[in-house]
Amino acid sequence: MLVLGIETSCDETAASVVRDGRVALSDVVSSQIDIHRRYGGVVPELASRNHVMQVMPVIEEALAVAGVTLDDLDAIAVTSGPGLIGALLVGVQTAKGLCLATNKPLVGVNHLEGHLLAIRLLEDAPEPPFLGLVVSGGHTSLFDVRAFGDYRPVGSTRDDAAGEAYDKVAKMLGLPYPGGLPIDRLAKEGNRRAIAFPRAHIRGEGAECDFSFSGLKTAVRAWVEKNGRPEGSALSDLCASFQEAVADPLTKKAILAAQRLGHRRLVLAGGVAANSRLRELMAERARKAGVELFLPPIRLCTDNGAMIAVAGTHAFWRGEIADLDLCATPGWQLGHAPEPRRVKSP
Ligand code: KG4
Ligand code: ZN
Repeated sequence: MLVLGIETSCDETAASVVRDGRVALSDVVSSQIDIHRRYGGVVPELASRNHVMQVMPVIEEALAVAGVTLDDLDAIAVTSGPGLIGALLVGVQTAKGLCLATNKPLVGVNHLEGHLLAIRLLEDAPEPPFLGLVVSGGHTSLFDVRAFGDYRPVGSTRDDAAGEAYDKVAKMLGLPYPGGLPIDRLAKEGNRRAIAFPRAHIRGEGAECDFSFSGLKTAVRAWVEKNGRPEGSALSDLCASFQEAVADPLTKKAILAAQRLGHRRLVLAGGVAANSRLRELMAERARKAGVELFLPPIRLCTDNGAMIAVAGTHAFWRGEIADLDLCATPGWQLGHAPEPRRVKSP
């Protein structure tokens, strides 16, 4: 079973060939970070244009590295949502063109299902049921994963995603985009108790597993306005304190949700899952709670085509084959049908 996965939902053009939903034969990622860096964030129109230029060379390289041709594939999977509309359309239209030309089945994949199933590429991969935390630049959500294809939202951010908070705080501090890695590196030298940044207390029924990071971002801004942009050890201390204020609620609520739902396994996913303190604190708290933690290797945390091929393989096995009027669905929430914000591709 060979599936090609294509990912163009944000600022990475990626493609990969995966065997049996378990083994990546290739994993090619062309990042646009250098293009967006000078603007301090992703510029959607530039992202679309660059996907157009990169998508076919990236697919060709993924096939070549895997040593296969389009004819050898059993299906072609593509991220069809959520993401930037123009960026998604490039992948969706390309996949449709390839399927039309080769008569291969087409599978539309939810990007978050991709993140959750990236862990399947590990040798020691967990089977559902498990609790999944997807924490990236666009998402911060907990999912009750009962089976492949059965993803129930348990909680999510009320405002900024954790990665977005990292990127915005980095900008305030004059650090390069994306801000996760530079803050993570500086935080290693700093004291995480130096500044008592606030944790959001979200009240209301069923809100215990929701997150909020905009207050934290504002608190960092207020600190910088009052004290000036920090340098040297003060900068490291601020980064460490901010990082702790992100990792603390993420780990606490993930463990709480796992315990409430009776999950013995917890899977971390998404770009922010690469964060060293989040990995460390989650491991510590999971151990204490008797929950088994599965951490993807760093290269599988950020966007890639292999995770889309894995999720596409499972969707294919479930019979979720799309036809050629597959839409890009920029607001598609995992666990919900892709209505009503469908956007028909031209
Ligand atoms: O999953 P991803 O590649 O794209 C989205 O689907 O959003 O995640 C990108 C996000 C960015 O916000 C980036 O700053 C963050 O992941 N990130 C990190 C680290 N590495 C990447 N955040 C914290 N610590 C890191 N080491
Ligand atoms: Zn992502």
